[in-house]
Amino acid sequence: MILVAAGSGVRLGAGMPKAFAPLCGEPLLVHALRGVFGCGEVGHVVIVAPSSHVHQSRDIAGQDPRVDVVAGGVDRSASVVAGLAALHDDDGIVLVHDVARALAPAELFARVIRAVRAGNPAVVPGLAVTDTVKVVDADGRVLATPDRESLRGIQTPQGFLREVLEHAHAGGVSATDDAGLVERTGGQVRVVDGDHRALKVTTPADLAVATALLQDVLYAG
Ligand code: C5P
Repeated sequence: MILVAAGSGVRLGAGMPKAFAPLCGEPLLVHALRGVFGCGEVGHVVIVAPSSHVHQSRDIAGQDPRVDVVAGGVDRSASVVAGLAALHDDDGIVLVHDVARALAPAELFARVIRAVRAGNPAVVPGLAVTDTVKVVDADGRVLATPDRESLRGIQTPQGFLREVLEHAHAGGVSATDDAGLVERTGGQVRVVDGDHRALKVTTPADLAVATALLQDVLYAG
């Protein structure tokens, strides 16, 4: 699997790349790896790190032979491509996961892998949207209000047959998620149930929510 962790984390304002920002005393990258390896079905993992933090990422991964670290690209898609180039051929299934979703639980990884194995070439986890969502133009004029029932908030890990992901990235186009590229190249994408713990840590407020979630887990345990 490819764990993209090369973002700068400017919106988080932690003074370091987001993957290294502490959540309950441990870097987001440590939490993310815990979820990844909690799922016994993940084999080789490529961490795509900021070029300034390749060594630090290697230190965090320790001597684990299942993990390689490479430097990321200018945007998320370029980082995924860098990860693909370093990824071993496991079983033909590739997961792409954002380190920003550091609390994604092991069962979410397993659910996505299961859905790909069941014959879906591209699988994304999604949650029902509770806000009403509007499409707006650059001046803030509302253009449309899509039916909320048909909307899902999409998370990672996203799972793909390797050739589908490689084909999607072959054009060198950028997107905010990999499934979007699969859609653009005519592929079918299937949504499975997401998980509220896979929230994306982008701002300090997200970090506060993640802290509360994690403390709940710790106290519950
Ligand atoms: O910027 P954004 O929050 O959408 O990034 C989503 C994920 O992509 C994060 O986990 C971030 O580390 C990763 N990323 C990356 N390389 C970049 C930009 C973002 O690996 N150049």
